Amino acid sequence: MKLLVTGGAGYVGSVCAAHLLEAGHEVVVLDDLSTGHRDAVPAGAGFVQAELGTVAGEVLGGAARDGAAFDGVLHFAARSLVGESVEHPERYWDGNVVASFRLLEAVREHAVPRLVFSSTAATYGEPAEVPITETAPTRPTNPYGATKLAIDHMITSYAAAHGLAATSLRYFNVAGAHVTGGGRLGERHAVETHLIPLVLQVAAGTRESISIYGDDWPTPDGTCVRDYIHVDDLADAHLLALQHATAGRHDVYNLGSGQGFSVREVVEACRAVTGHPIPAAVAPRRAGDPAVLVASSDRAAEGLGWKPSRTELERIVSDAWEFARPR
Ligand code: UFG
Repeated sequence: MKLLVTGGAGYVGSVCAAHLLEAGHEVVVLDDLSTGHRDAVPAGAGFVQAELGTVAGEVLGGAARDGAAFDGVLHFAARSLVGESVEHPERYWDGNVVASFRLLEAVREHAVPRLVFSSTAATYGEPAEVPITETAPTRPTNPYGATKLAIDHMITSYAAAHGLAATSLRYFNVAGAHVTGGGRLGERHAVETHLIPLVLQVAAGTRESISIYGDDWPTPDGTCVRDYIHVDDLADAHLLALQHATAGRHDVYNLGSGQGFSVREVVEACRAVTGHPIPAAVAPRRAGDPAVLVASSDRAAEGLGWKPSRTELERIVSDAWEFARPR
């Protein structure tokens, strides 16, 4: 298939673009490089550096006019910092919702048949029950989750009205890196807030110690529990979503590995993998953190035939380390 990958210079987008190329698809990456990196766009992909909301119509329409129409769009481009979304919601309603609306309009106008969208566990907010299924109530607790949920609703209506074959994949805690003989693609944010890359910065010598945000949560060791999913497993689900998409339907799937690890367990795994003592200190709770987030991925197993295969925490951490370690 010929596929447009928005946000393909970012962490998840670049890894998925690499998987798509490895599977023989033709890939064009569209990214404004506001948070992505040019050198993360995999060799073999076309690249357009521009703002999604401005050029989506041109890119999809131009290809259609040239008789080389796109068969699908994988939409990763987004702002994704929970804290920033609370302070600057306008950036999220514009950068996520308005830009996605423009993309959907271009998809409709140029009759692109398939769309796979990066949704998030943050659409659910504080869960009433764990593991979280797709039928759980969606009550996002921050503008980031609210904008992703708004886009999910938009996609549902486009699928119903305009026959789009659409899939939203709700990611839990994406981690690890795509490590191949040819290179490595991983997590590299100017502002890093995610646990595993921060802990590995300590091992790499660029950070003194790691703060554990609270050890008085109602969990076995008192620290928050999350469902870490290897980015390669996540990419596999995107390829399956393209295969299983059905015109006029919008399917929503949670993607996690179905097991929870505490912050302390993550720090321990990083110590084991890196051999570094990684000093850690307990700090106050971070606002907005739920105690436990674990996915039920039963629906993805049934609907997509997806089964994550890189689920050991040490495997996830060691691939992230392969990417992050100083060379
Ligand atoms: N944590 C620390 N110290 C740190 C960083 C994080 O203790 O320095 C803890 C957090 O409090 C949390 C856990 O590590 O309990 C994981 O935090 P991350 O920031 O790595 O990930 P989140 O679970 O907060 O965020 C993930 C996704 C978001 C999504 C959110 C949904 O990365 O995109 O889940 O709640 F919005």
